[in-house]
Amino acid sequence: MRKFRKREHIENYLRSTYVGNPLFDDMFLYHNSLPEVDFSEINTSTVFLNKKVNFPLMINAMTGGSDFAEDINRQLAQVANEFNIPIAVGSQTIALEDPDTVESFSVVREIVEKGIVIGNLSARTSLEDAKKAIDIIRADSLQLHLNPAQELAMSEGEREFKNILKNIEELVNGLDVPIIVKEVGFGLSSDVVKRLYDIGVRNVDVSGFGGTNFFEIENLRTPDSDLSELYGWGIPTALAIIEAKSLGLDDLKIIGSGGIKNSEQLIKSIVAGADMTAISGEILSYLVHGGVEYTLKYLGNLIYKSKMIMLLLGAKDIKDLRNVKYKVKGELRDLLENFKL
Ligand code: FNR
Repeated sequence: MRKFRKREHIENYLRSTYVGNPLFDDMFLYHNSLPEVDFSEINTSTVFLNKKVNFPLMINAMTGGSDFAEDINRQLAQVANEFNIPIAVGSQTIALEDPDTVESFSVVREIVEKGIVIGNLSARTSLEDAKKAIDIIRADSLQLHLNPAQELAMSEGEREFKNILKNIEELVNGLDVPIIVKEVGFGLSSDVVKRLYDIGVRNVDVSGFGGTNFFEIENLRTPDSDLSELYGWGIPTALAIIEAKSLGLDDLKIIGSGGIKNSEQLIKSIVAGADMTAISGEILSYLVHGGVEYTLKYLGNLIYKSKMIMLLLGAKDIKDLRNVKYKVKGELRDLLENFKL
């Protein structure tokens, strides 16, 4: 059942048509005609989870658990290796239930020997299972996903949501690797981020609205229930990043994800306050439609264009990028004004 569902997630992502807006268009960046930096000096490297990475982008959690998923994970790992960027595997619950599927996850660590590999489980997991998931891929970190909207969209999904914060606290205290708490495309509010911070979480992935839409993906699996009126639900990614950053928590690392597809959105995520960015859906599309070469080309171009934007902002490195000033307009400004009230 779980195996089948995983494949459907990929197929339904590729079939999905709803286009959300992560609101990056409402961020305005000033062009700098006197950047005083050479293109060859632009340095996109950064430190994430205590390792150096070449570019502030990770391949976010997607799959595992079948031969089909193993192929995808193998190819994603090759891409991550090529650019020395982090990669997260999809939910490992299936590997804890069925040992035959372990290889579909561990293949990622076999390929990415030294780089950052991140595990993934539901935030309701037990400490024992979390340790097993970490061991399977010698994970540098474990992502715990919060996905109440997705669960409600599944007829077989969870309906009990109490005591999850307490469980996360136990996992934070009981594990040797850092935890990343993430959404799956509906966005973490600043209130949720603060509650996570208060129990010791130091890495959050806002995974906001505007990209992969699990109301639609799950709805395509169950055509007899119509959830289309909920397709617009969620906190747009740009808003989620700005609000998380505005908490002013210096030791909190923010990962910006949800609807990032191009260099401008990626750069704006960092300007808005993200320390790292992540993409799932768009990378999956390139991979399924054109294989590893096509995906390498997409990411190579994305990195090159990100460097162009950095130069045009006068930002020679990621630290400079975080200090770039920006203005907000339109819907994003309206939402932020209400936020301040
Ligand atoms: C996902 N995502 C996801 N997240 C997670 O924590 N565990 C998982 O197993 C999965 N599985 C999964 C499958 C597929 C096919 C997609 C497209 C996505 C969610 C993902 O990590 C990310 O949070 C969202 O997709 C938002 O980012 P994008 O896709 O808009 O870049």
